[in-house]
Amino acid sequence: MAFNIAIDGPAGAGKSTVAKALAARMGYVYVDTGAMYRAMAYFFLQKEIGKEDESAIIGAVDGADVTIRYENGTQQVFLNGENVTGFLRTEEVGNMASQTSVYPAVRKKLVALQQKLAKTTDVIMDGRDIGTCVLPDAQVKIYLTASTQTRAKRRFDELLAKGEMPDLKQIEADIKERDYRDMHREMSPLMQADDALLVDSSGLSVDEVVARIAAIVDERAGREP
Ligand code: DC
Repeated sequence: MAFNIAIDGPAGAGKSTVAKALAARMGYVYVDTGAMYRAMAYFFLQKEIGKEDESAIIGAVDGADVTIRYENGTQQVFLNGENVTGFLRTEEVGNMASQTSVYPAVRKKLVALQQKLAKTTDVIMDGRDIGTCVLPDAQVKIYLTASTQTRAKRRFDELLAKGEMPDLKQIEADIKERDYRDMHREMSPLMQADDALLVDSSGLSVDEVVARIAAIVDERAGREP
């Protein structure tokens, strides 16, 4: 049976950075499920389907073939055969993903793909519903969070480094809105699974968070650290 590690948490908690580092360290495959929801959102944006138009979304879902492949250990997302990885990390696509991931038709399709991947492969999978819904039997479940202020400041620094002129207050407001939506949707809302361990990354470096989770994984896998 494959060894599965589930990492859930709100936007900006550091899930992907930490999951990538852990996957490299352990030789596991990192599966970024947010990128799959983003690829679907990108598809809806391209088709000019409104985020509130559930019947159009239901009708369009089958026309979006989302697959992932790994190139030099890095996840690449393909939408109907085209590599769209480079188009997915914008605020527009992120917000659309948060808004369209509420629809059962979207979730059903992507959850099936995620479960298929994890069945045969040792994965570290991050998202919002991995420990609660996608991989309820994962051997390790982590709920990674950080204060809203910490997450907003990280995003602010990231955008500054890209040469943009971000507005910290606006970023903080967007994060709060996204958290609210992800935590209050009807289907598979973001929440800590009963058997997930809480890690708060506020005030910790990436290396410290990775070390903390690696120690938990080693203990669960019965390995010496
Ligand atoms: O992790 P991210 O910012 O790339 O995710 C984008 C959106 O996708 C997020 O706001 C909610 C949705 N999502 C989800 O509903 N379930 C997941 N497992 C991953 C992401």
